[in-house]
Amino acid sequence: MKRILSGIQSSGTPHLGNYLGAMKNHIAMQDTHECFIFIADLHALTTVRDPEKLRKMTREIAIDYLALGLDPEKVTFFRQSDVPEHSELAWILSTVTPFGLLERAHAYKDAVAKGMKEPTVGLFTYPVLMAADILLYKPDIVPVGKDQKQHIEITRDLAEKFNSTYQETFPMPEPHIPEDVGYVIGTDGEHKMSKSYGNVIEFFADEKTLKKQVMSITTDSTPLEEPKDPDTCAVYKIYSYFATEEEKKSLADKYRAGGFGYGDAKKVLLEKIMEHFGPFRQKRIELAENLEYIDTVLQSGAEKARTVALKTMAEVRNHTGLNFQ
Ligand code: TYM
Repeated sequence: MKRILSGIQSSGTPHLGNYLGAMKNHIAMQDTHECFIFIADLHALTTVRDPEKLRKMTREIAIDYLALGLDPEKVTFFRQSDVPEHSELAWILSTVTPFGLLERAHAYKDAVAKGMKEPTVGLFTYPVLMAADILLYKPDIVPVGKDQKQHIEITRDLAEKFNSTYQETFPMPEPHIPEDVGYVIGTDGEHKMSKSYGNVIEFFADEKTLKKQVMSITTDSTPLEEPKDPDTCAVYKIYSYFATEEEKKSLADKYRAGGFGYGDAKKVLLEKIMEHFGPFRQKRIELAENLEYIDTVLQSGAEKARTVALKTMAEVRNHTGLNFQ
C-alpha cells in the first residue's frame, strides 16, 4: 500500500478550494492508501496571533475532517505541534537549504508583494517546515492543490540536498494534484479561492453566510432575458465541480436559452452545495458536542505519527553525527 501524507493549516475556516483540492481526496484515499493527515498549527502560527483562536480553529478543522468522513481508525490523523520532530527536522534541513531557494518561493514573495510590512523568519522558512512535515514520514505521494506545487518541489530539492550532503535518507515524494479541481476559482471569478483574497465559500458556514457568499459571486452585466455563456461564468464553474454531466448540461442549456438570470443560477448552486454537504453538516453538529472525543482522536493519532517520526529522526541523527551511537 502506498503511503500518502498531507496537511492543512488551521489559520481559517476551510472553503470549497480546500475541500475539492485536498480534503475530499484525502478521505477518498483512506481505503486505498496508508494515510497520514495532519493539522498544520505550527504553520498557522505565522499568521494567527491569538492563542484561543488557534486552539479553536485547530479543533474545528479536526471536526470538519471527521464530519466529512475521515476515519481515524484508517488514517493517522494528528496535530503537527504534537509531534516535536517536525520542528527538529526543519532546523536540520534549514542547515542545507540555500537562501536563494527560499527567496524564490511564491508564498513569501506574494506576502511581501501584498504589502506585508515585516515578514517574519517563520514565513520565510515556511517551506522548510513543510519539507520536514513531508520527509519525516517518507510518503510516496503528497496530495495537494496546485498552489502547493512549488512547496513540493522545494521539498524534493531539500531531500536531494540532504541525501547528497550526507547519505541516502529520504525517498523523493511525488505531488498528486487533481486535474479538474487542483485550482478552484474564488467568488471573484478571478483568483484561486483563498481566505487571503476574501473570495471563499465556507461549506460548513450557517446557511445565511453561505447564501451571502454564493450570492456575492461576481458575474457580468448581461440582462436577465439575454443568452449567457456558461463557460465564462464563475457560478457555472463552481457548480460544475459538484454536478453530474447531465446536470451541467441542463444548467448550460438554461444559460444559453436566455430568460435565466445569474441570480437563478446562484440559487441552483446554493441548493447543490446544501444538498452535497447536508449529511456532513448533521454529523458535524454531533461531533462538535463531543470535544473530548476529538482531542482523544488527535492524541492517539500523534502517538502513532510519532513512532514513525522518531524512526526517521534516529536515522537523521545518525547520518548527521548528532548522536554518539
Ligand atoms: P492550506 O492550508 O492553504 O490548504 C490546504 C489544502 O487545500 C488546497 N487548496 C486548494 N486547492 C484547490 N483550489 C484552491 N483554491 C485551494 N486552496 C487551497 C491546498 O493546495 C492544500 O492542499 N502549506 C500547506 C499546508 C501544509 C502541507 C504540509 C500540505 C503544511 N505542511 C505538508 C502538504 C504536506 C497549506 O498552507 O495548505
